[in-house]
Amino acid sequence: MFSNRRVLVTGGAGFIGSHLCERLLARGAEVLCVDNFFTATRPNVSGLMLNSRFELVRHDVCFPLYVEVDKIYNLACPASPIHYQFDPVQTTKTSVHGAINMLGLAKRVKAKILQASTSEVYGDPTVHPQTEDYWGYVNPIGPRSCYDEGKRCAETLFFDYHRQHKLRIKVARIFNTYGPRMHPNDGRVVSNFIVQALRNNDITVYGDGMQTRSFCYVDDLVEGLIRRFPRTIPNSASRKSAKRRNCLVGGRRSRYGLG
Ligand SMILES: NC(=O)c1ccc[n+]([C@@H]2O[C@H](COP(=O)([O-])OP(=O)(O)OC[C@H]3O[C@@H](n4cnc5c(N)ncnc54)[C@H](O)[C@@H]3O)[C@@H](O)[C@H]2O)c1
Repeated sequence: MFSNRRVLVTGGAGFIGSHLCERLLARGAEVLCVDNFFTATRPNVSGLMLNSRFELVRHDVCFPLYVEVDKIYNLACPASPIHYQFDPVQTTKTSVHGAINMLGLAKRVKAKILQASTSEVYGDPTVHPQTEDYWGYVNPIGPRSCYDEGKRCAETLFFDYHRQHKLRIKVARIFNTYGPRMHPNDGRVVSNFIVQALRNNDITVYGDGMQTRSFCYVDDLVEGLIRRFPRTIPNSASRKSAKRRNCLVGGRRSRYGLG
C-alpha cells in the first residue's frame, strides 16, 4: 500500500508517531519523521535510524516546511495535560500554525493529509458515547482549552481546506491510547495505574469510579490510521471491493472522513 510512497509523520518521534513510522516502514514507505523533541525521546526512533528509508528531521511545525511527500500524518502536539499546559501558548500555536503549515504543504505538493485530532474536541461532553454528529460541550477559556480549542481550530482548517481547495483530508479523533513507549509520568489513567502497580502502591481511582473512558491499544490505532488512506485503485472492479473493505474496517462512516 505504501511502497515507493514518501510519507511525512510530524510528531513522529513521540509515542504514537514512533509506532506509526515503524509500521509505515514495514509497509514499504519512505518515512520522513519531523519532530521538535518537545515530548519525544531519541530512543523512541533509534531503532529506525539504520533503515535507509527513514529520515529524522528536528523541526517545529509552527514554521513552514518545504519537502516533497505523497502523504502527511500530522501528529505533532503534546498530548497529555502536564505537557500541553506547560506552555499553553505554544500548544495552541502547534495545533493551529502546525495545521496551517502542513495543509499549505499538502496543497503545494498535492499530498493527502491526516490530522490526529482528539476526543477532547467534545470538551466535557453531555452525550456518552459521543457520536460524530455531536458537537460537544466546550470551554474556550479554561486551562485545557489550549489543547481542546487548538485541535478544534485545526479540524476547522482541515475541513475548510477540503471545501475551498479540494484537499484530500482525513481527521481521526483519537481516544485514550496506551502501549509501549507511552510517557510513564504523563498523569493519564493507564500510565498511572501501571506505574502505581509496579511500585506496589495503591491504585488511585478518581471520583466515584463510575466514569467511562474509551481505550485503544496503540497497534490498533496505528492500523486504523494507516487504513484511513485507502490504496490507489486502478479499476472499477477493485474500487468496489476496496469500498467493501473500507466499510468493514471503518465501521460507521461519516460524509467527511472523520473517525
Ligand atoms: N495518546 C493519546 O491517547 C492521544 C489521544 C488523543 C489524541 N492524541 C493525539 O495524537 C498525537 C500524538 O500523541 P502522543 O500520545 O504520541 O503524544 P506525544 O507527546 O508522545 O507525541 C507528540 C509528538 O509531537 C512532538 N511535537 C510537539 N510539538 C511539536 C512541534 N511544535 N513541532 C514538531 N513536533 C512537535 C513531540 O516532541 C512528540 O514527539 C497528538 O497530536 C495528540 O494530540 C493522542
